[in-house]
Amino acid sequence: MNFSLSEEHLMVRKAARDFAQTELRPGVIQRDTLQEFPDNLVKKMGALGFMGIMVDPKYGGSGMDTISYVLIMEELSKVDASASVIVSVNNSLVCFGLETYGSEIQKEKYLTKLATGEYVGAFCLSEPEAGSDATSQQTTAIDHGDHYVINGTKNWITSGGRSDVYLVIAQTDRSKGSKGINAFIVEKGMPGFEIGPKEDKLGIRGSDTHTLQFNDVKVPKENRIGADGFGFKFAMKTLSGGRIGIAAQALGIASGAYELALAYSQQRKAFGTEICNHQAIAFKLADMATDIEAARHMVMKAAWDKDQGMSYDTSSAMAKLFASKIAMEHTVEAVQIHGGNGFVKDYHVERLMRDAKITQIYEGTSEIQKVVISRAILKN
Ligand code: CAA
Repeated sequence: MNFSLSEEHLMVRKAARDFAQTELRPGVIQRDTLQEFPDNLVKKMGALGFMGIMVDPKYGGSGMDTISYVLIMEELSKVDASASVIVSVNNSLVCFGLETYGSEIQKEKYLTKLATGEYVGAFCLSEPEAGSDATSQQTTAIDHGDHYVINGTKNWITSGGRSDVYLVIAQTDRSKGSKGINAFIVEKGMPGFEIGPKEDKLGIRGSDTHTLQFNDVKVPKENRIGADGFGFKFAMKTLSGGRIGIAAQALGIASGAYELALAYSQQRKAFGTEICNHQAIAFKLADMATDIEAARHMVMKAAWDKDQGMSYDTSSAMAKLFASKIAMEHTVEAVQIHGGNGFVKDYHVERLMRDAKITQIYEGTSEIQKVVISRAILKN
């Protein structure tokens, strides 16, 4: 067993760290305050290969492995979880979904642009009445021979207002349950496709979250992904990889908050010494460092499972469950270590605390991860 990162992985991590510190950090407070989508930074991340990290170079991607992906996600998320969720959805839901299950025509037409950052992608599964219960899709896609007609509403869609390509999950035949669901590629600007109001969120405020409305949207049959009825499995398989990305995001938020708290505790003095010398603070730092190390091993293991072609449904759910839990707990502690300074925006930890919460909600709540994990345990 080898726990060392390769030279290549170290270089990738350094590139992501340098980008996060020099490009993401300067405007992160303003983007959070004003809910500004980082358009220019997305282009720059595309140029660095971060929008199509695992995509085959023949489709314009970087051809890297999932370990590289989680290293990049951790570094970006330490500084700006809004930028990193755009990267995560584009990579592990949209690009992965298209590359693994799309037709050659779909890959040529869409993946080549998504992998370079020319296009941004969104994944549209959640609905007002179908968040965790993903089989209860109310959005319909009725088969009209050479095309489908989509009607319905999608909620909380990441990059919803800024995407060019939307992967939309919809019910074609309700009588078939999960086997009557399909996934479609919908393009921005298709008649009847409307972008609804932008959400005013607690965290990841620099990302762009919208309700989407589909009113008789005519989608050519060649835009269906996979065979008829494959949509639910498509969503589940894609989300398993997405959970690795969000686990890495949670890890990044936790480690970003820890690094800030550690540095602060080594320069802030109280009762005649730096506060890290008080056991009350030192023990918090010890707990944070230990949990972050454990989460990093879990995230790496899930990424490694995927790279080895092994099943990663359970390891990704476990990594997300644990990493998001410690992200929430330790960002609260990082604020506590900062005292009054932790409560103001300039010190960054209050934002990380707000950003941490969504990692326990999207791509399956913590409760859904427990459903996935307990089903796997009880099946054996
Ligand atoms: N891989 C392949 N197939 C899978 C699968 C997987 N990981 N998980 C389930 N399936 C298959 C099952 O085998 C079953 O197929 P068969 O009928 O052939 O046996 C079928 O799918 C139905 O499965 P279940 O009966 O297990 O379905 P369920 O209704 O009980 O739900 C669930 C399972 C795990 C709770 C699922 O609904 C789920 O994951 N919900 C959460 C959805 C979610 O993560 N939403 C996030 C939205 S996206 C997002 O957040 C992106 C963003 O913007 C950041």
